[in-house]
Amino acid sequence: METWWKDAVIYQIYPRSFKDTTGNGIGDLKGIISKIDYIADLGVDAIWLSPIFTSPMKDMGYDVSNHRDIDPIFGNLKIFDQLIKKSHKNNIKVIIDQVLSHTSDKHPFFILSRSNKTNPKKDWYVWADAKSDGSPPNNWLSIFGGSAWEWDTSRKQYYLHNFLKSQPDLNFHNKMVQKWVQSTIKFWLEKGVDGFRLDTANYFFHDKKLRNNPALSNKKINSNPYYQQELKHSINQRENLIFMKALRKVTNKYKDIVMIGEIADPKVQAEYTSDNNKLHMAYSFELLRENFSKTLIQNTVLDFFKNSKNGWPCWSFSNHDVPRHVSRWSNSKIHEHNFAKLTCAILLSLKGTPCLYQGEELGQTQTEIEYDEIKDPPGKKFWPIDFGRDGCRTPMVWNKKEKNAGFSNYTPWLPIKKLQLKNAVEDQKNNKNSVLNFYKNFISFRKRHSAFKEKLNFIKHKDLLIFSRGNKVKIVCIFNLNKYQVEVDNRFGYLAKDFPYSNIKINKEKIIIKRYGFGFFKSSEIF
Ligand code: GLC
Repeated sequence: METWWKDAVIYQIYPRSFKDTTGNGIGDLKGIISKIDYIADLGVDAIWLSPIFTSPMKDMGYDVSNHRDIDPIFGNLKIFDQLIKKSHKNNIKVIIDQVLSHTSDKHPFFILSRSNKTNPKKDWYVWADAKSDGSPPNNWLSIFGGSAWEWDTSRKQYYLHNFLKSQPDLNFHNKMVQKWVQSTIKFWLEKGVDGFRLDTANYFFHDKKLRNNPALSNKKINSNPYYQQELKHSINQRENLIFMKALRKVTNKYKDIVMIGEIADPKVQAEYTSDNNKLHMAYSFELLRENFSKTLIQNTVLDFFKNSKNGWPCWSFSNHDVPRHVSRWSNSKIHEHNFAKLTCAILLSLKGTPCLYQGEELGQTQTEIEYDEIKDPPGKKFWPIDFGRDGCRTPMVWNKKEKNAGFSNYTPWLPIKKLQLKNAVEDQKNNKNSVLNFYKNFISFRKRHSAFKEKLNFIKHKDLLIFSRGNKVKIVCIFNLNKYQVEVDNRFGYLAKDFPYSNIKINKEKIIIKRYGFGFFKSSEIF
């Protein structure tokens, strides 16, 4: 079905931390294969694998040195074929991460490109002379700290990097680069993948004239000055959008492929997913933010569909770049089952494709990482204001009775701590009230009711998040995001037997919703 991805639930796997079968403390492809049954049982339709390609792992695989091979840490192409086969056998599609905007500095293209100014790859990266005073060509900054320009002693020029200096930016203005990217995409399509998550999808092109980015007028001084600039010239260039059309043409030659672009700005998301000729979906950042409120959710969803009449969003609350949402939003170090269930119910009821992050289905919390345990480069750079991203990347806890929680026979690359052990899969599997079983049941509830494929309308309420789904028969979804109890008139229809609810009481006149409570009501009324 051409638009399978609109009704899908995606499960993001961070392979380093999923399951290790080789005994080196790092997860691998065989580990994922061994857990396909678990993933299938959850009821998700697709997995997105964070990068598994050859890499020096300076940015944990987002620094690729060979885009067409698997890093030996994870396995090889043969094992990847087995993974595709087993996933497909279980009706699970496979989406791979493509890091195309930059490469590793250990990529043979960059090694050649930096060697002199006359080599065949001389224009494959963004090279520029120093200003007359020796300073970088412009004011662009790297997200990971400092200037976006690094001086190269052999070329005696600066090169551009939006992230680490070991992640040089490819020069997409060079047609050869564009061709190479398209053929890389083709390579994986031939291997049988079902789609791509395009890393930093709006960073591919830069302003050819290298103009300075203006300062933001309403800037907030925070730990990272990157956010004080309007990224007018360094990203979001018109050519980027045109290139997406070319990529779409490549994927259109194959059946049922999806391209999900990582794009932060809602207006840019709309542009990139409009008219069914560029990206299929935009992976939104809005719900990965720090504050949790009904207004955030309501405005984010309204904004997306207002800006984008025919585009499609991919929503998630957690991923490998931000603190896990149970800790980020509930502000409690203590495991909060009801909060995890509430957020599951919200995410899976929204219009758009939900993307779960491994461990989220366990209500997993953020791991507290000590300075000495940090592996993530921005964590070291911005400590102690920003701790980096390791705390959301610690290994899956499969079974707390087994060594290293059943993740690995060897010391894991990031620590597994006591608080996280409490949420082990094995303990949750047979507990019908567990977060894990709630996710499973909710995914199946969402699938059983076609209303979740139809319209979404918000219903105004001062304390509660309320919206209806469906065209004719509606399901009214009511959520209490507050820590206090809220009462509302009982006018939303009836609570059907198989509808999930939590912390909710109903009498003839009132619906009483306690802290983090929610319920779903069937109604034929027009709201
Ligand atoms: C994306 C990835 C992040 C990575 C960055 C650079 O934002 O999600 O993990 O560090 O791109 O590739």
